[in-house]
Amino acid sequence: MSSQVRGVIAPAKGAPVEVTTVVVPDPGPGEAVVRVQACGVCHTDLHYREGGISDSFPFLLGHEAAGIVEQVGEQVSDVPVGDFVVLNWRAVCGDCRACRRGRPWYCFNTHNAGQPMTLADGTPLSPALGIGAFAECTLVHAGQCTKVDPAARPAAVGLLGCGVMAGLGAALNTGGVQRGDSVAVIGCGGVGNGAIAGAALGGARRIIAVDIDARKLDWARGFGATHVVDASTADPITAIRELTDGFGADLVIDAVGRPETWRQAFYARDLAGTVVLVGVPTPDMRLDLPLLDVFGRGGALKSSWYGDCLPSRDFPMLTDLYLQGRLDLDSFVTEEISLDGIEAAFDKMHAGEVLRSVVVA
Ligand SMILES: NC(=O)c1ccc[n+]([C@@H]2O[C@H](COP(=O)([O-])OP(=O)(O)OC[C@H]3O[C@@H](n4cnc5c(N)ncnc54)[C@H](O)[C@@H]3O)[C@@H](O)[C@H]2O)c1
Ligand SMILES: [Zn+2]
Ligand SMILES: [Zn+2]
Repeated sequence: MSSQVRGVIAPAKGAPVEVTTVVVPDPGPGEAVVRVQACGVCHTDLHYREGGISDSFPFLLGHEAAGIVEQVGEQVSDVPVGDFVVLNWRAVCGDCRACRRGRPWYCFNTHNAGQPMTLADGTPLSPALGIGAFAECTLVHAGQCTKVDPAARPAAVGLLGCGVMAGLGAALNTGGVQRGDSVAVIGCGGVGNGAIAGAALGGARRIIAVDIDARKLDWARGFGATHVVDASTADPITAIRELTDGFGADLVIDAVGRPETWRQAFYARDLAGTVVLVGVPTPDMRLDLPLLDVFGRGGALKSSWYGDCLPSRDFPMLTDLYLQGRLDLDSFVTEEISLDGIEAAFDKMHAGEVLRSVVVA
């Protein structure tokens, strides 16, 4: 048995996305079918469409989603039908070398559904980040379903499934923000503003938002930035140093992921400070730095995969903070759209008009 639903695919490298029929198999052992209530449009979906992540076209796009568990397969005991869940792309295995060392947020063998979703002609689809939630229903591994408080708005908490969590976690988990730190965030899209919100939650004293788009900087103030730098008119390294008594920030987060922004992060950081790369570079990008500067400036140069989050720990906690009014997830949702609006949402993302367009059912 299977069901046919509407879904949005990237058919070929660089080609516009298409709404089409997607065949969702009944869940097998360990799997679940989730009725998608909301799914945000993330820059990573655009990377997929452009062939920047892999060549396994066609992709079923969409991966920051919330919904209701509709059907579960055998051997699924902890995800009841009817639960409100945020989908994650880190269903930890419990058994790989990272999990066995007590560091499951690095899990190297995360679970996804075993069966493929397909086009009507049987062509298998590659679901973005093992999720594929620009669809009315999607098939995932049961471990990808993280139960959160059903009082939460799906369009808001679904964003914890990727970009906003990546940003929050880049600050809180990977960057380890401490009360009193100075934090600079380069690139204030959904990910960067997540990092700003994370820095605020973590008790940072100064939070410096950097972007080339003034609208993004206005939003950043709303999420807790104490200072903003327009990198289209000012040099971010000089500006961040000036705002930190001439020294640089304790933590600089690159939420763009380009050589020039990473270099800015590297030099805008205080001695022994931390750089966190959370933006995703493309394969052609290269860095050239004096190795002596790497040594002489000390500190930590880290990457943040999914904000080093542990969904079972972080999603319910952050949902509770949201419901208590301590984490403003609603302001990430610039607009609610339908499945037909994704190509236009990519254009708006490019034009800087949105933090997140969210597809709602
Ligand atoms: N590490 C992870 O696990 C993870 C998860 C989700 C997304 N990402 C990545 O994070 C990045 C950001 O995603 P997003 O959804 O926030 O994208 P976005 O397009 O919404 O935001 C990017 C922001 O960077 C700004 N920007 C671009 N060039 C800049 C420059 N030179 N200096 C300063 N600002 C600049 C843009 O104006 C925009 O505001 C993407 O590369 C995405 O793939 C990573
Ligand atoms: Zn593991
Ligand atoms: Zn994403």
